[in-house]
Amino acid sequence: MTAHGLEPFIRDLPKAELHVHIEGTLEPELLYELARRNRVPLRFRTVEALRAAYQFHNLQSFLDIYYEGTRALLSEQDFFELTWAYLERAAQQNIRHAEIFFDPQAHTERGVPFNTVIRGIHRALEEAIPRFGISSKLIMCFLRHLSADAAMRTLEASLPFKDWIAAVGLDSSELGHPPEKFVEVFARARAAGYLTVAHAGEEGPPDYIWKALDLLKALRIDHGVRCLEDPALVQRLVRERIPLTVCPLSNVKLCVFKSLEDHNLKTLLDLGLCVTVNSDDPAYFGGYITENLLASQQALGLTRHDIYTLARNSFEASFLSIDKQQRLIDELDRFMDAHAG
Ligand code: ADE
Ligand code: ZN
Repeated sequence: MTAHGLEPFIRDLPKAELHVHIEGTLEPELLYELARRNRVPLRFRTVEALRAAYQFHNLQSFLDIYYEGTRALLSEQDFFELTWAYLERAAQQNIRHAEIFFDPQAHTERGVPFNTVIRGIHRALEEAIPRFGISSKLIMCFLRHLSADAAMRTLEASLPFKDWIAAVGLDSSELGHPPEKFVEVFARARAAGYLTVAHAGEEGPPDYIWKALDLLKALRIDHGVRCLEDPALVQRLVRERIPLTVCPLSNVKLCVFKSLEDHNLKTLLDLGLCVTVNSDDPAYFGGYITENLLASQQALGLTRHDIYTLARNSFEASFLSIDKQQRLIDELDRFMDAHAG
């Protein structure tokens, strides 16, 4: 594929986003505006100084800054504006469906009520349907560095809003917080009707991926790039067609891979894994899905067929009904026909 015309092709390609933390879409400009409005003091004096601080050497060094940024979010309107800004960008990149993580504990721990968070996010998601034609699902993540009891209390707090939440997930500091810590919380979540996903194999070993599957019954693995260290695990992921929501720019920013050229995305694809490309925390990692796909294409020599497979996988790996998936895949196929050659 030539570089010419690649950017509009990738940008306009119909696709789904399955791994984006809404708090990780908080761009420095909006962070500043909200902090000013809410009179929250910031450590960095300018937008530029803030952006310059986005240099990370591992997941934890990022999370420290990420949680600091959430302090600017206080009112329902703040959560609405945060989500709306993401949806506007998603629309520009022809994201047709988004499954969005939120971290309620990052807010309830600061005294912001659960219902303030979810009402703001939900209102934006509802308004995006007629405005942008973007459908969505919400995934509530538990912070794995906090206790299982705290996760269980969060689960209980979510139950009145169950109809607005499709799934639960597990994020934050991976190393030292293996999946087994949350077995009971996930069992209770499944009993309440939630689907399940989990971050695993980002910094943590393949064993955490096995446990996310076997103990938490995760239907998708978020990241999962360390699966390649265990051939039996790869075999299982292929056989059971368990999707991996891979985030290439995130992995480089957090030093999971030294450079995008070293990333294993192309190998994962060639092994027949159901891989998708996602943005994780785009305000912090230098790009949304288009930028992730474009940079990966250039670094790894992805073919036009690879890009198609990634977009198709994003619909097939989603929690949409088979009918809705098929409608979006048909749209993707029509797009490919119209952009043949
Ligand atoms: N929270 C936000 N981004 C995350 C990531 N990449 N891994 C774990 N937790 C996160
Ligand atoms: Zn993530």
